[in-house]
Amino acid sequence: MEKNFSRTLVTAALPYANGGVHIGHLAGVYVPADIYVRYLRLKGREVLFICGSDEHGVPVTIRARKEGCTPQEVVDRYHTLIRDSFAGFGISFDAYGRTTSETHRKLASDFFRTLYDKGEFVEKESEQYYDEEAKTFLADRYITGECPHCHAEGAYGDQCEKCGTALSPTELINPQSAVSGSTPVLRRTKHWYLPLDKHQQWLEPWITEEHKEWRPNVMGQCKSWFDIGLQPRAVSRDLDWGIPVPVEGAEGKVLYVWFDAPIGYISNTKEILPDSWETWWKSPDTRLIHFIGKDNIVFHCIVFPAMLKAEGSYILPDNVPANEFLNLEDKKISTSRNWAVWLDEYLRDFPGKQDVLRYVLTANAPETKDNNFTWKDFQARNNNELVAVYGNFVNRALQLTQKYYEGRVPAAGEYTADDEATLSEFVSIQQALEEKLENFHFREAQKEALNLARIGNRYLADSEPWKLIKTDPERVKTILNISLQIVANLAIAFEPFLPFSSEKLRQMLNVSKEDLKWDRLGSRQLLAEGHQLAKPELLFEKIEDAVVEAQVQKLIDMEKANAEANYRAADVKADIAFDDFEKLDLRVGTVLACERVPKADKLLKFSIADGLNNRTIVSGIAQHYKPEDLVGKQVIFIANLPPRKLRGIESQGMILSAVDFNGNLSVATIDREVKPGSQVQ
Ligand code: 2FM
Ligand code: ZN
Repeated sequence: MEKNFSRTLVTAALPYANGGVHIGHLAGVYVPADIYVRYLRLKGREVLFICGSDEHGVPVTIRARKEGCTPQEVVDRYHTLIRDSFAGFGISFDAYGRTTSETHRKLASDFFRTLYDKGEFVEKESEQYYDEEAKTFLADRYITGECPHCHAEGAYGDQCEKCGTALSPTELINPQSAVSGSTPVLRRTKHWYLPLDKHQQWLEPWITEEHKEWRPNVMGQCKSWFDIGLQPRAVSRDLDWGIPVPVEGAEGKVLYVWFDAPIGYISNTKEILPDSWETWWKSPDTRLIHFIGKDNIVFHCIVFPAMLKAEGSYILPDNVPANEFLNLEDKKISTSRNWAVWLDEYLRDFPGKQDVLRYVLTANAPETKDNNFTWKDFQARNNNELVAVYGNFVNRALQLTQKYYEGRVPAAGEYTADDEATLSEFVSIQQALEEKLENFHFREAQKEALNLARIGNRYLADSEPWKLIKTDPERVKTILNISLQIVANLAIAFEPFLPFSSEKLRQMLNVSKEDLKWDRLGSRQLLAEGHQLAKPELLFEKIEDAVVEAQVQKLIDMEKANAEANYRAADVKADIAFDDFEKLDLRVGTVLACERVPKADKLLKFSIADGLNNRTIVSGIAQHYKPEDLVGKQVIFIANLPPRKLRGIESQGMILSAVDFNGNLSVATIDREVKPGSQVQ
């Protein structure tokens, strides 16, 4: 339904302040939101862009326990780190608040109280897991176990990260406390529930009929929730980190983080606009848009709207453009495995190249399906698109103007048919760009912006002013005038996507942002005849192979270092009978010869002296040893396994090795020489 709104309120999901932010965050939420907001601002629309840190919740307390500090210290540290990382990428929030602020505590508390007083909650006692060792109830991520759906180990009480299913703690198989490692018991406790089942009757038609324009991935998730049937959701928790539940008899209980976090959008607005925040949140002329990742869909499309409706004085979101996930080098981004490109590290490793990452993440935006980031693609897009197309065109136009006219914009003569054709292509691209931006198709929109640069490049290549300067200098003036107008248009078209480059370009063109508003896009007269340009510089630089190769290596090294730091010995297997152990015939053998098995990367063929007739053993350790280094060593092998054919060779036993945390193998050897064939007991 098209409606005329007076202002747009854009929110971007509040990141948890329990760790840094990586390229997945940027691609999924913050770059698209920033593109949209910058576009609206350039168009002169009234817009407010709200974000901030989500500072409550179990992940914060888990991190604090791990680091041996207080939750407040954790959120103070990460709030600053995250805020600065976003600022470094030019994410242009109007407010970046915190859910530990006093404004937020009061607003969230009053919000709960209003719903409580209106009878919008259901109070219920239920059985929940309790850790008797740590003397605490185990909410959400404080409890882990086997996923009842995909059977992955380590699923959390609120979600299985492997298959993405939302869970409740009592569904987990073999639950375990993440606090003490003990097996929890069930205990009765009271909580307040938002009866989403009652809200379904208005939520379902509101989304499926009145908002048919929502993205298919968002609509799909909502419909599947409706099909299952919405259930009441607890909005309080037994924890000591959070906003206390503001009713009598609720000692030791706090608001569920997903109840307080979205209210953070409101309180962060109130912090910067104490007198007019209600216009933004309560006037039906405001268009509210939530930018989020796919794991937040249910909270923004169902739970938060139900809260807002129950309160009664707030507007509801008009759209929730949620993105899917971004993978990294073909693997899922994982903070726990440290498989991520962290934004603060990128800013240190690539100073001045924020736009390159913004560009690549938008070009690969996971708008309709999960997408992949690779350093090779990052390099290719920089070198083949930003440098070779956009940068090259700008550089040629500016350098030629510098060379022929000392940097003054030459006067255009009469336009040829080719000039007219080029300029009119421009106008149609402007419309396409706008249509795509309005509909949140940022990836396609950025392609259109690059097409403008392609048109410019082609125009210069076809008209060859560097040749014409000798034979028709008047014509060159027109060609460069048109080229410079295209350059100025590019500064407008790319401003939402690549704000740092547009700023640099405006400096080179010696114009202000005011001169290059969105409504002037497509104009042939952005730069007046005789206007003096500043000294040209390169807009983008080539990125060499070694630079991206070093980044891939860094990823591998970080993942390894992380695995080592988090290493924990595997649980011991179930007991076996002593008799079973005695059946094993373990012996020492001396390696007489060792060679690679042809066409098998993993296999080595050993000739082993065993004190009897000697034997051949094939072992899968070729990636960990040079064969010659093993000759003469005394190894331990299982002597009574039935022979097995491997690549056509009969292997008569198995050599024992230890498997390190990273999969490296280390052969078990003897530290004092013994006779070949000695038994190992
Ligand atoms: O998924 C997350 O990172 C949450 N902290 C998002 C919260 S969005 C909003 F509701 F605050
Ligand atoms: Zn699962």
